[in-house]
Amino acid sequence: MNRPAMEGAPLNVPADLKHKRLAAWVAEVAALTEAADVYWCDGSQAEYDRLCAKLVAAGTMKKLNPELRPNSYLAISDPSDVARVEDRTYICSERKEDAGPTNNWMAPADMRVLLQTGDKALFRGAMKGRTLYVVPFSMGPLGSHISHIGVELSDSPYVAISMRTMTRMGRAALDVLGEDGDFVPCVHTVAAPLEAGQKDVPWPCNSTKYIVHYPETHEIWSYGSGYGGNALLGKKCFALRIASTMGRDQGWLAEHMLVLGVTSPAGKKYHVAGAFPSACGKTNFSMLVPPAGYEGWKVTTIGDDIAWIKPGTDGRLYAINPEAGYFGVAPGTNYKTNPNCMDSLKTDVVFTNVALTDDGDVWWEGMTDTPPAHLIDWQGKDWTPAIAKETGAKAAHPNARFTVAATNNPVLDPEWDNADGVAIDAFIFGGRRSTTVPLVTQARTWVEGVYMAATMGSETTAAAAGQQGIVRRDPFAMLPFAGYNMADYFQHWLNLGEKIAATGAKLPQIFCVNWFRKGADGKFVWPGYGENMRAMEWMLGRIEGTAGGKDNVFGVSPRFEDMRWEGLSFSKEQFESVISIDTAAWKQELTLHAELFKQLEYHLPGELPATMASIEERLGS
Ligand code: GTP
Ligand code: SPV
Ligand code: MN
Repeated sequence: MNRPAMEGAPLNVPADLKHKRLAAWVAEVAALTEAADVYWCDGSQAEYDRLCAKLVAAGTMKKLNPELRPNSYLAISDPSDVARVEDRTYICSERKEDAGPTNNWMAPADMRVLLQTGDKALFRGAMKGRTLYVVPFSMGPLGSHISHIGVELSDSPYVAISMRTMTRMGRAALDVLGEDGDFVPCVHTVAAPLEAGQKDVPWPCNSTKYIVHYPETHEIWSYGSGYGGNALLGKKCFALRIASTMGRDQGWLAEHMLVLGVTSPAGKKYHVAGAFPSACGKTNFSMLVPPAGYEGWKVTTIGDDIAWIKPGTDGRLYAINPEAGYFGVAPGTNYKTNPNCMDSLKTDVVFTNVALTDDGDVWWEGMTDTPPAHLIDWQGKDWTPAIAKETGAKAAHPNARFTVAATNNPVLDPEWDNADGVAIDAFIFGGRRSTTVPLVTQARTWVEGVYMAATMGSETTAAAAGQQGIVRRDPFAMLPFAGYNMADYFQHWLNLGEKIAATGAKLPQIFCVNWFRKGADGKFVWPGYGENMRAMEWMLGRIEGTAGGKDNVFGVSPRFEDMRWEGLSFSKEQFESVISIDTAAWKQELTLHAELFKQLEYHLPGELPATMASIEERLGS
């Protein structure tokens, strides 16, 4: 059935498509946006190669030297479109209270007028002159009971190829939908319509941006950006914001968490889920290489950014990674900090906003100790170490990223694709704090753990547009990603804990970590990366009841002698400076917790201020 849209675009509906509702919706969006053409992605390698060639011809991407980086590309974005835009991200629930005070909100009816239905609606004509790509995808293994299907309609071929790497994309997802399957509709435009004869730019985008979610109807509309979480709508928009509301309604969790497997020399395997804010170490921790002194230990990756976690019939919590690829931070990644990541990036990668070497490969800050003598930086300018020294120019943008399939990861966990997920033994929450927060602390109870996660602070990073290095509260590392009221989200976590406890199943232990304490010299005291294994071993020891520790005002932390130090020279004094609790700093910290609780007053679970009161009491005495 090849019905033309009212005003022209051939809809090119695949002859064997059974899903009438999907075809009708594509026709509707093609008409609204006045797309010039419609292309249905099948997800094949041939299609990927063809779209990449198209992106090269358009100047969006360069093909890298196939000898050095086979089948890989460098994409360069517009300098104004380099990160998520939190201030342009909206949760349009019917009631403002359901979006909560930490989300931008507009009434759905008003937002629809602005974007879709008004005379001057932004999506009207937004895809003029461009092809609308129909991108069907599955978050989670194809056909699994735990998975959900989405269809993204985008006028960006860069989005289409990225979605193939990041999700199970194409024909197979359409097959799962069948005649009438449910899908989350995701509409995305770079919002740069082309008039007849108008020449395109390499990275079309718009200075007006809207990243909009309708949580009640499970719809996503994204306008004006082509970058990362703003545009790859399966990721933060669907797998976190929309999925978190599904989880609230259906009794499960959608979290900004890595998931890893860790196997001891005795062959015992644990599964750990870790929520660290954006650019705070999830990808690194999920691929950790155990350091000297940890021979026989092995860490394997299930996911590096997002986890969907559901209670199993045995009462335990089971996690899957809904994604199929990594969209990870490049700067700082090297063979010392993350060798498994470097090995994942040898072939079939799209790099975005890193620098180009003279021999057609890529480079970013921190990749090697000695930078190349000459580069083309991410803005297309000549870059040399001397220029960098003089002007401070970065070769790669601090939020430069790679897009690569999970199957490239040499330590991919054999269970990563298992539809039943893996049983979680521990949750770790970790912000980026140069002061105050100790290296590792175990919560004594589920409620204390929820308190730690809820009050987590972290210094802002380049992953989001705006000021960097400012400490802000980032509850559960979900501040930018919760699709509903954060206080209700806390309640959901508390309820789930009670529900699991009632089954008699073992609750995961909750820990908070901080790899980022700095010394008087402004340098990180803790060596981090692979050495984080030492904190992990202590946590596993606490689960087993074999590791010692000492009560502090808000949990239990290790003493020097409770951790293993073989293979690392780290003194008791250095340890003291990453584990100590400064009473004055914590009194100050608690005022920030109180501020958060004031902001989240509506529906705030009483357990949280009660926990704060008991910490205050212990601090005072
Ligand atoms: P998103 O993809 O934005 O959600 O981030 P992520 O949490 O996966 O962050 P990632 O692992 O990519 O880390 C980003 C930055 O943190 C990089 O610059 C790393 O070098 C740095 N980093 C990661 N782990 C450590 C650590 O243990 N210590 C220190 N000092 N830095 C770290
Ligand atoms: C993050 O910012 O947490 C990311 C990158 O993982 S993005 O997909 O752009 O949101
Ligand atoms: Mn993330």
